[in-house]
Amino acid sequence: MRGLHRHDAGQGRVGALSNTLEDFVIDYRLQGRTAIVTGGVSGIGLAVAEYLAASGASISVWDLKQDAVEQTAAQLRRRGIQAIGIALDVSDADAVEAAVQRTVEALGGVHVAVNNAGISGPAVSSGDHPLDAWKRVIDVNLTSVFLCQRAQIQAMRAAGGGSIINMASILGQVGYQGSAAYTAAKHGVVGLTQTAAWEHAADGIRVNAVGPGFIDTPLLQSMPAKARATLESRHALKRLGTAEEVAALVAWLASDAASFATGAYYPIDGGYLAV
Ligand code: NAI
Repeated sequence: MRGLHRHDAGQGRVGALSNTLEDFVIDYRLQGRTAIVTGGVSGIGLAVAEYLAASGASISVWDLKQDAVEQTAAQLRRRGIQAIGIALDVSDADAVEAAVQRTVEALGGVHVAVNNAGISGPAVSSGDHPLDAWKRVIDVNLTSVFLCQRAQIQAMRAAGGGSIINMASILGQVGYQGSAAYTAAKHGVVGLTQTAAWEHAADGIRVNAVGPGFIDTPLLQSMPAKARATLESRHALKRLGTAEEVAALVAWLASDAASFATGAYYPIDGGYLAV
């Protein structure tokens, strides 16, 4: 676990930011706004929740398990941040609608939404990909973004506008062997983002996609050292990124500092795509 959990356990510095985050955190002035972060208890989502909280936002943490969302929300609350945790599967339409409703009731609206929850899927080629695994990856990585975005747009209209950030990937721009469903889903996230940006600009809602390179999170930590070294070499910076480096871009997009940014794919990839 990054951030909150690490410093609480090791240094007892409740009230401080994590060591990594405090090196470069910028206050994006999100006081009075509520942010939903899906997949918010781990990796990139946890770093995003911390960064938005450090900029003053109230946080609605969504993830699969009740104890995990409650733990993350409780740690934010101990730092004086308004926060709730909601356990759900983001591919369940009714659960998503109910979670937006609960967020509005508990935290007074939805102004920022980061649709970040995702899974990797099996490493098999397109010719061998099982259908059930294809459907699950598309459900969790693409249909969930449609469902979350749809419910969030309704709430943002009521709030007079907002900023949606959908977590894509470098694999939303290029292919990757052994990753057919994931790559298709992430390309879909970029298209969904561009379309919603045009459709909801008049509602005061900006919609953008973020495309991380390979980031050092629990999603990758079970990988053998050799495979990791190969991945590092594919980035111009010759390393993996950190969740906090992705969170810094997300926080900017969430804020009024990005008021002319909509309908775009923003790489944060250590030069992966710059070949
Ligand atoms: P992670 O595995 O650390 O975190 C993902 C979170 O999403 C977990 O807390 C998990 O419980 C939650 N989640 C998974 N399925 C869910 C569901 N059906 N409903 C609710 N929550 C669910 O992964 P990481 O690396 O932080 O990834 C976050 C996002 O960033 C994903 O969309 C991933 O595809 C994307 N990404 C990650 C990259 C990486 O190298 N780590 C690179 C590019 C994009």
